[in-house]
Amino acid sequence: MNRLKIGVLISGRGSNLQALIAACAAPDFPAEIVLVVSNKPDAQGLDHARVAGIDTAVVAHGEYPDRESFDREIDSHLKSSGAELVCLAGFMRLLSSWFVEAWRDRVVNIHPSLLPAFKGVDAHAQAIAAGVRLSGCTVHIVRPEMDAGPILVQAAVPVMPDDDEDALAARILEAEHTCYPLAVRLLAENRVTIFDETAVVDMENVAAGPLIHPQPG
Ligand code: GRF
Repeated sequence: MNRLKIGVLISGRGSNLQALIAACAAPDFPAEIVLVVSNKPDAQGLDHARVAGIDTAVVAHGEYPDRESFDREIDSHLKSSGAELVCLAGFMRLLSSWFVEAWRDRVVNIHPSLLPAFKGVDAHAQAIAAGVRLSGCTVHIVRPEMDAGPILVQAAVPVMPDDDEDALAARILEAEHTCYPLAVRLLAENRVTIFDETAVVDMENVAAGPLIHPQPG
């Protein structure tokens, strides 16, 4: 099987990275992680990569004069690794338009809300403050604007009356760990077509849970 090569960009804990590592460990999963890049040298996620025997690189953003030169360094690591798809997994830097266009339709992100609601770093707090009964997570193709771009997979997650940010974040995180591998699989199997800035997904013979969209076709 020809597996899609992916590079994962992280800044911290790396639980979504772990979910992707676990998915890629299945012999029939159509993707493999060839590189993990962190902008923070002490990111916990780097340990998950090392344990799994995956190459890592640290590109510390403070060492670059501007966003694009930082992005160009990441780009050169990705190119040398042979990565074909870039997965942002808790990567806390906004990528430059240069990078996003250089990798057009080949960068994906996971965000802990049902986009386009609650963009930004405090998505859980925004959901609680808004009093929504359902929130969730979104995997989407990255565009230069923050938390924007064609939506690949979403999962709905209930917000409970006594939730604080941590309780809601933990419930949504579980859904994230299902959605991200599913989105990578859909891309790796060439099931996604971007049409007029929306993603059309062929879900034939793909199993997905009841609160995960798109649904099987
Ligand atoms: C996740 O909630 C993700 O949606 C957001 O940042 C968090 C990263 O968590 N973009 P982890 O590092 O994958 O554990």
